[in-house]
Amino acid sequence: MNLAVLGAQWGDEGKGKIVDLLTPRFDIVARYQGGHNAGHTVYVNGTKFVLRLIPSGILHPGVVCLIGNGVVVDPTALFAEVDELARNGINVEGRLFVSDKAHLILPYHRDLDLLSEARRGERKIGTTSRGIGPAYEDKIARRGIRIGDLADPKGLEQSVRDNVSARNRLVHDTTMEWEAVLAQTTEIGARLTPMVRDVSLMLADAFAAGKAVLFEGAQGTLLDIDHGTYPYVTSSNASIGGVCTGLGVGPRAIGGVMGVVKAYATRVGEGPMPSELHDAMGKRLRDTGNEYGAVTGRPRRCGWYDAVAMRYAARINGLDILALTKMDVLDGLDDIKICTSYRCGDRTITDFPSDSGVLAACEPVYESIAGWTEPTKGVRRFADLPENAKRYIKRIEEVSGVPVALVSTGSDRYDTILRDDVLAARLPGFKLEV
Ligand code: GDP
Ligand code: IMO
Ligand code: MG
Repeated sequence: MNLAVLGAQWGDEGKGKIVDLLTPRFDIVARYQGGHNAGHTVYVNGTKFVLRLIPSGILHPGVVCLIGNGVVVDPTALFAEVDELARNGINVEGRLFVSDKAHLILPYHRDLDLLSEARRGERKIGTTSRGIGPAYEDKIARRGIRIGDLADPKGLEQSVRDNVSARNRLVHDTTMEWEAVLAQTTEIGARLTPMVRDVSLMLADAFAAGKAVLFEGAQGTLLDIDHGTYPYVTSSNASIGGVCTGLGVGPRAIGGVMGVVKAYATRVGEGPMPSELHDAMGKRLRDTGNEYGAVTGRPRRCGWYDAVAMRYAARINGLDILALTKMDVLDGLDDIKICTSYRCGDRTITDFPSDSGVLAACEPVYESIAGWTEPTKGVRRFADLPENAKRYIKRIEEVSGVPVALVSTGSDRYDTILRDDVLAARLPGFKLEV
């Protein structure tokens, strides 16, 4: 059975750790959207890896990793990652493939990202400035350059000339030379060529051969271009629909959907976040959870678990199970809060609003749960959790409407609790191992 693993909040839920952990059960791990705005952290025996474009299954020898057409690929960033892995003894040759339909991020996209943010002023998105938005803009506007286009030098030259000249019309303080961009793209394109495949076809062949595929999401549901807190979102479908469009697979290829969710909430960049804490508790969550962006190093905004947003993510993605991460960050708190509804003017609402302005005006309504003193850090069996931690998880399940099949109690691969009974009830016949 194939499993989709995606973010149920505003990104950085711990997808990298979970994907790496589950990979031995799969033959292929495939990324379906986003680009090197993602930063998926994996710790193996104390060594830290941050994966951006390459699927988080790559650390397991023999596993095939695919980058789908829905991903925007900065080839320089891709090879920086390949080289970094090689320095750590991980060879991707013959098992990392990229779709010929994936669009390229080229140097002018980054300039346009910065320009767009500067122009927005106070209303800036707080992007990762990796050129993600402008690359997807070019794709939708049908002037983007796809990886497959590298095979057609004449067409490539024309597209680079057009796009660089469009950039020069918009950015006034510097001028970019199209010849330099073309030379760099051609050079790096030559290195990319052996990896280029029809990823949809590869997946169809894999399904026919009975292979199991893990679909890895980047960002999170609340950053989804359609379903997130627009316009404070990224420019791709981070939610489940992105699997089909971003890889060229049918919906029945998705056997189960796992939402990764932190035991509290974080967000990096601008945009509404009803349960954000501006007080000492927010700082405590940031410090204890080491909540600083894996890509940009920016401090993440922290707050309590938001069950309104979670129920919404469950609906948008049809979540079967949750992986609840960073439980250990709550260790030692007397009192923990869960946001169960919003107060919006004189109304109490339990459904996540479509409009970001409405969401920004919402106040969280909390219920309190007693904390625990004994640490959950490193606990690997559900039975070994403190009773109040078990109560917290049960309450999360009740208010979110999705059972917790996996609990993460530390950044290490094996600091994880797998609940076989929950898994068997929700995804019968599907076995995971830790
Ligand atoms: P991703 O983008 O969803 O893959 O998440 P990030 O890697 O950006 O951020 C998650 C951070 O939390 C990383 O630094 C992980 O090493 C760390 N992490 C993941 N799970 C746990 C956990 O259960 N406990 C703690 N303390 N840290 C965790
Ligand atoms: P992973 O995969 C958290 C946020 C940015 C900004 C918004 C738009 O590690 O969970 P973009 O550069 O994509 O145009 O920025 O989206 N953002 C993320 N936040 N985790 C991510 O990825 C993110 N990728 C983008 O901070 O608010
Ligand atoms: Mg991240």
